[in-house]
Amino acid sequence: MSDATPIAIVIRMACMRAEVAVRSGHAYVAVSRQDAPSADGELALTVSSPESVISAIAGHVDAQGELPAAVSVDGVSYRIDTPAAGTARLAGRIVIVTGSGQGFGKGIAEGLVAQGAHVVVADINAETGQAAVDAMCEQFGDRAAVFLPINVTSQESVVACVQATVDTFGGLDMLIANAGVLKAGGLDEITESDFDFVTSVNYKGYFLCAQAASAVMRQQHALNPDHLTDIIQMNSKSGLEGSKRNFAYAGSKFGGIGLTQSFALELITHGVKVNSICPGNFFDGPLWSDPERGLFVQYLNAGKVEGAKTVDDVRAFYMSKVPMGRGCTPADVVTAIRYLHEQSYETGQALPVSGGQTMLN
Ligand SMILES: NC(=O)c1ccc[n+]([C@@H]2O[C@H](COP(=O)([O-])OP(=O)(O)OC[C@H]3O[C@@H](n4cnc5c(N)ncnc54)[C@H](O)[C@@H]3O)[C@@H](O)[C@H]2O)c1
Repeated sequence: MSDATPIAIVIRMACMRAEVAVRSGHAYVAVSRQDAPSADGELALTVSSPESVISAIAGHVDAQGELPAAVSVDGVSYRIDTPAAGTARLAGRIVIVTGSGQGFGKGIAEGLVAQGAHVVVADINAETGQAAVDAMCEQFGDRAAVFLPINVTSQESVVACVQATVDTFGGLDMLIANAGVLKAGGLDEITESDFDFVTSVNYKGYFLCAQAASAVMRQQHALNPDHLTDIIQMNSKSGLEGSKRNFAYAGSKFGGIGLTQSFALELITHGVKVNSICPGNFFDGPLWSDPERGLFVQYLNAGKVEGAKTVDDVRAFYMSKVPMGRGCTPADVVTAIRYLHEQSYETGQALPVSGGQTMLN
């Protein structure tokens, strides 16, 4: 190949160009390198440019009415996985969800897999990440999800994760920048290292993930100008209004919205939409409900809620602040993700999903 774009991306975009997708009946496919060529249905090419791969695959679909089962380029074979007909709404989408070993990220990954996506569970914690993947693959099949390690504060780690995603599935349609941490405390409590830790994961980590993901998304768009992709940051209602004695977190999330707006302006010419989701509190998730380290226990011990004597008192206090009377769930967030992905006329937004607790003006 004369182009630096990985061959798997070229093959995938060739299969997904609008006219080919219409004729073959597949809008999204996955492409992965295989050790041995397919026994039949393999299109063998000895070509040297992306354009010749694109026209060869279009020619095959014209002649056969369907995509080849595999394509080999200069003797290296790539398998093409097509979603079963009539399947789910996100069939064939390739998605990285950072921080998806537990909490919101895990629920988001499960929700996207259930709707047909191939999901990369990318987490710093291999044990929880692999366990989440094992459960999803048991229910939805081997290609539903993979675990890849990532530390979102390290450029090397983030780039390696995105590269491994391309090697595994042949591209990237959506990045959910979800990994996030919280250290609550006032100006008299938060240390410099606490502040650096929160800023590094929530703010710098989003930059590094968007940078690495957008490099692949740009390559895809250059080959297939109809193909839109999404970067979606898991922000917070604390990214829209200040949070008392929680400034490190709120500041990192406000900053994240600045990144979202700026990335959106830069990337739209490459077909990348960039938006944030600002969920309300996921009271049933580990961040709040962990019996030892959860925020309910922490806030009880810190006396943050006046008069509260039990964890249930603290929970009731926070629940009473939500007009819809319940906490946010991963399913609520998955609905918002689907909206942001399916709409093709909005970018740079911060979408609240907070039961009415935060209202835009
Ligand atoms: N829980 C809530 O109520 C709530 C509300 C609004 C927004 N959010 C946001 O949703 C996101 C997820 O929150 P959660 O409550 O599910 O958190 P969580 O603590 O339950 O899970 C966070 C995950 O991120 C992983 N992680 C931490 N540091 C990492 C790093 N450097 N690299 C890669 N992975 C890392 C952890 O291993 C963990 O699996 C965060 O961005 C958070 O700010 C949460």
